[in-house]
Amino acid sequence: MTLRVAIVGSGPAGIYTAEALTKQSAGPVEVDVLERLPTPYGLVRYGVAPDHTSIKSIAHYLRRVLETPGVRFLGGVELGADLHVEDLLACYDAVVYCTGAMVDRQLGIPGEDLPGSVAATDFVNWYCGHPDAPDFTLDVAEVAVVGVGNVAVDVVRILAKTADELRATDIPEQVLTALAESRVKRIHMIGRRGAAHAKFTLKELRELGELLNADILTFPDEVAVEDLTDLSRQVRGNVDVLQAWSTRPPQDRPRRLEVRFWLRPVEILGVSRVEGIRLERTRLEDGRVVGTGEFETIPADMVLRSVGYRSVPLPGVPFSERSMTVPNEAGRVRDREYVAGWLKRGPTGVIGTNKSDAAETVRTLLAEVVPEPARPTLDDLLAARGVTPVTYQDWLAIEAAEEKLARTLDRGEKVKLVGRAAMLDAFGGADRR
Ligand SMILES: Cc1cc2nc3c(=O)[nH]c(=O)nc-3n(C[C@H](O)[C@H](O)[C@H](O)COP(=O)(O)OP(=O)(O)OC[C@H]3O[C@@H](n4cnc5c(N)ncnc54)[C@H](O)[C@@H]3O)c2cc1C
Ligand SMILES: NC(=O)c1ccc[n+]([C@@H]2O[C@H](COP(=O)([O-])OP(=O)(O)OC[C@H]3O[C@@H](n4cnc5c(N)ncnc54)[C@H](OP(=O)(O)O)[C@@H]3O)[C@@H](O)[C@H]2O)c1
Repeated sequence: MTLRVAIVGSGPAGIYTAEALTKQSAGPVEVDVLERLPTPYGLVRYGVAPDHTSIKSIAHYLRRVLETPGVRFLGGVELGADLHVEDLLACYDAVVYCTGAMVDRQLGIPGEDLPGSVAATDFVNWYCGHPDAPDFTLDVAEVAVVGVGNVAVDVVRILAKTADELRATDIPEQVLTALAESRVKRIHMIGRRGAAHAKFTLKELRELGELLNADILTFPDEVAVEDLTDLSRQVRGNVDVLQAWSTRPPQDRPRRLEVRFWLRPVEILGVSRVEGIRLERTRLEDGRVVGTGEFETIPADMVLRSVGYRSVPLPGVPFSERSMTVPNEAGRVRDREYVAGWLKRGPTGVIGTNKSDAAETVRTLLAEVVPEPARPTLDDLLAARGVTPVTYQDWLAIEAAEEKLARTLDRGEKVKLVGRAAMLDAFGGADRR
C-alpha cells in the first residue's frame, strides 16, 4: 500500500525529507511538498547571499528531488491559512513540518523600534527579492551591524560591495539600483564577545578581507586572545585573520568596515529615527558576558540587528516558547506528526546539516506509520476552498521568466522577479495567491 506524506515547507529540510522518503525501500510512497510561497527552496532562494553562486547551485540538486516520480510541489498553500493540521491528518498518513525560522530575534533594548533599526531578516529578504520584504533605500552613510555570525557577514558584504560587483547575480533589479545609489561609507560589525567567540566561519570571514571597495579594520586590543592553545583550527584561523587586519594599512577605498569586539548594545539612540548606538564594553565572568560600566557611542543612521532567526508557532502544532522549536523525539512530535530542519533543532547549521536531520526524522516516521487505504485527497479539499496551488510546471515558468529578464537586462543567468503578482503573471496565474 502507498504511504502518503505531506511535507510543509520546501526549504532544504522539506526537500531532503522528500528525498529520504523516496529513497527508502520499505514500500511505495507519494509525497506532497506544500509551500506558502509560489517558489520552492526556502532560504536557498531567499537567504543564501546572491553573490554565493556556488552555494545557491544546491538548488540544482534540490530540483531533482522535486522532479522524482511520486513527489509533487504545491506552492501558494499555507498551513494555518489555507488549511489546518486536521485537514492534513485526514488526507495523509503522516505530516512533516519543515517551516524553518522566518522571523528575527529581538535585542530587547530601548530604541529597537526606531525607524532605521532594521532586522537582518528583513534586509536579507529585501536583497534576495522575497515577496514579503519591505523596501529599502540606502540613503545612509554609517551603518552598525549587531552580531558576528555568518548572516552578519553576508549583510556587511552586500553593503560593502559595489552594485557592479553584484550585477551578474540574481539580485533583483530594484535592489541593484538601490545599491548603486547607496551612500554607505562606514560599516561597523559589532560582537558582544571576543574574536575567539565569533560565530562566523573562516571562509566567510576571509571573503571580507578580499572586498575591493572597502578597507577593513580591527583594533589590536579587541582582537587580542590570551590563550590560543585550546582553540579549534577554525577559531584559530578567525583570530589570525582578525589580528592581521589590525595592522593592515588602509588603502583609501570608498568604504570602511570596522569589526569590533567586546561591545554589547544597550540602546539604539535617536529621536524620530536612528542616530547612533550606545554600547557597553564587556568581559567574560564565569563564561557569561558582563558589562564593565564603560560605554561607547557609535554614530549610525541605520542599525542592522543580525542576532539570529526564530521559528514561529504553527497553529495547532506544539511549540516550545523557550527553545522556539517544536518539541520532538528524533523528529516525532505526536502520532503521525513529525518535524525536521530549523523548526526541529533551532536556527543553526548549514544547508547540508538538514540532510542528516531529515534522514533521522524519516527513519522515525517509517518505523511507526502504517499507510491507510482510503483517505480524502488534498486536491479536492483545496478545490472546495477555491485554492489553486502553484505547480512545479508553474514554478518552471517563473524560473524561465527570471532567465528571460536577465537576458533583457544583459545580466547573469537569472534576475529575480519581485512580488507575488510578477511571479504569478509568469505562468498566467493571476488568480492564485
Ligand atoms: C540569511 C541566511 C543565509 C544563509 N546562507 C547559507 C549559506 O550560504 N550556506 C549554507 O550552507 N547555509 C546557509 N544558511 C543556512 C540554511 O539556509 C538553513 O540551514 C536552511 O535553509 C534551513 O532549512 P529549513 O528547510 O529548515 O528552513 P527554510 O529554508 O527557511 O525553509 C522553510 C520553508 O517553509 C516555508 N513555510 C513557512 N511557513 C509555512 C507555512 N505555514 N505553510 C507552508 N510553508 C511554510 C517557507 O516559505 C520556506 O520556504 C543561511 C541562512 C540564512 C538565514
Ligand atoms: N555562508 C554560510 O555558510 C552561512 C551564511 C549565513 C548563515 N549561515 C548559517 O545560518 C545560521 C544562522 O546564522 P546567524 O548569523 O543568523 O546566527 P548565529 O550564527 O547564531 O550568530 C548570531 C550572532 O548574534 C549575536 N547575538 C545574539 N544575541 C545577541 C545580543 N542580544 N546582543 C548582541 N549580539 C547578539 C551572537 O553572539 P553570541 O555568540 O555572543 O551569542 C552571534 O554573534 C548559522 O548556523 C550560520 O552558520 C551560514
